[in-house]
Amino acid sequence: MASTTKVLAEHRGDEMLRREFKGVAVFLFWISGIINVLALTGSFYMLQIYDRALTSGSIPTLLALSILVIGLYLFQGVFDIVRSQLLVRIGARFDRMLAPIAHRVSVDMPRFGFSTGEALERGRDVDTIRTFMGSQGPVALFDLPWVPLYILFVYFLHPVLGALTLGGAFVLTLLTIWTELKSRKLAAAAQQAFLTRNAVADSNARNADILKAMGFAGRAVSRFNEVNQDHLTLQTRASDVIGTFGAFSRILRMVLQSALLGVGAYLTIQGQMSAGAIIAVSVASSRALAPIDMAIGNWKGVVAARQAFKRLRDTMVALSNMTKPLDLPAPSKSLKVDKISVAAPASGRVLLTEVAFELNAGQGLGVIGPSGGGKTTLVRALTGIWPSLRGAIRLDEADLTQWDEDKLGQYVGYLPQDVALLDGTIVENITRLAPQRDARAIVAATKAAGVHEMIVRLPDGYDTQLGPMGTALSAGQRQRIGLARALYGDPFVVIMDEPNAFLDAEGEQALNLAIRQIRARGGIAIVVAHRPSILAEVDMVAVIQNGRLTAFGPKEEIVAGQRQANLNTNAGGLKVVEPRTETGGMA
Ligand SMILES: Nc1ncnc2c1ncn2[C@@H]1O[C@H](COP(=O)(O)OP(=O)(O)O)[C@@H](O)[C@H]1O
Ligand SMILES: [Mg+2]
Repeated sequence: MASTTKVLAEHRGDEMLRREFKGVAVFLFWISGIINVLALTGSFYMLQIYDRALTSGSIPTLLALSILVIGLYLFQGVFDIVRSQLLVRIGARFDRMLAPIAHRVSVDMPRFGFSTGEALERGRDVDTIRTFMGSQGPVALFDLPWVPLYILFVYFLHPVLGALTLGGAFVLTLLTIWTELKSRKLAAAAQQAFLTRNAVADSNARNADILKAMGFAGRAVSRFNEVNQDHLTLQTRASDVIGTFGAFSRILRMVLQSALLGVGAYLTIQGQMSAGAIIAVSVASSRALAPIDMAIGNWKGVVAARQAFKRLRDTMVALSNMTKPLDLPAPSKSLKVDKISVAAPASGRVLLTEVAFELNAGQGLGVIGPSGGGKTTLVRALTGIWPSLRGAIRLDEADLTQWDEDKLGQYVGYLPQDVALLDGTIVENITRLAPQRDARAIVAATKAAGVHEMIVRLPDGYDTQLGPMGTALSAGQRQRIGLARALYGDPFVVIMDEPNAFLDAEGEQALNLAIRQIRARGGIAIVVAHRPSILAEVDMVAVIQNGRLTAFGPKEEIVAGQRQANLNTNAGGLKVVEPRTETGGMA
């Protein structure tokens, strides 16, 4: 079943690219053919000059031939220009079509445990292909199929010379394949080292404050230097391989060209060929070998573009796999967690096992438990950031996966544990980049988050630019803007992960009021809490420990149970409590 859909999706992704570029590829093939036929002009000219103009001594013949040849050269030039412009435009078209898709994927990848460097590489893939399309690489590739044309031409002038050219082309092709085999692994390793290096650079830049405050910038630089060394070594080796083969192929081509001249001279002396033919062979054979030579010279670009294209194709396949779900009505009744297990996407380690509970409209849930117990993991599953391994999360009975992602976002408000704000204005952050500013909804959200006054006191008010990661604000301010963002548009479910971590008493009050308001308007509030003061406004409590839901039920019972457990073990902190209910459904 799954494999059929995969095959279908692959087919569709491929199909999309193929339809886009097949027509142009065919056109490029034929235009390259015309260019290559016209490129025989030089050879014919030589033949005619030596065998006709020189022997007859006729200046008018020479003149007519020359004018004809100049005309043909002009044609060739025009076709060459058309072809290179076309290639550049294909590159740009490719970019326009794929850049948004690639960016979408890079935005998604960090969720699944990829480094931001690896993720951004997808975006760079598009650049790589566009750059390649504007280089000599594709010209060489489109000229390659026309190499036999020149070999045939030489063959008709003299079979021995034709065979010699064919042999040369064969050896050069072998050399190209060898280059490819030798450089492929190295290039991939160099690419990996490049990513590692960038990850270290990225991490150092993000921790600039700490590096300065605790004086280990020097050591951070040496760590960067180490991985940079690795990258350089691999890069050098890959370039060496390609460079060496490139030089070899150039020398080989020169030897071959001289050999053709020598053998041609011998055949002319023997009276088997005209002197004009020697020059014609020389010109035609150099044209025959040029694309192969050029392909070797541009092999780095070819390899890079092919790797990029392969990755992008996988990307397209992954995306075309997603069908747009049916538009479901806004949820308003319940949130059911149906025995979910959740694993960390990067390592596959199971972090949450068989968690089940149920909440109805108007309820508020406090999630408590020790650090590292799995509270944030539960929140990630509830918001769909991490997919569940098993089980389902249902809004009004419909599994999260049945909802259109953008629509679902309107029904779920989320305040992450580490609030990161977008580089933009306060309004852009709160409205989640909505194209229209709905002043009423914005102020309702900021008032509910108790942050309206703070915002209007800023010099630019709601249009204050927050800078990268929202660095223009304090942690507490960021958290409250984050809360306003979660509350914006009155989503059905509002999930807050340790929202009081940076809040003062006033902020905590605002938060409690917000929870009360969510419940009063028939929403569901879920709040992960460390400090019990936050539990004032919830009616249900869940305890998450060691990746399991160890207790779930009305607040009074659970809190009493916790107290009992603490007395029993005679120790502070939370201890394991027997699960009160098997599958939840308390409401
Ligand atoms: N991205 C991740 N990859 C792998 N393991 C993770 C990841 N995030 C959290 N964990 C692990 O999952 C466990 C639960 O973490 P978390 O849900 O953040 O705990 P809590 O929010 O209760 O403090 C911890 O042991 C943590 O090491
Ligand atoms: Mg957490």
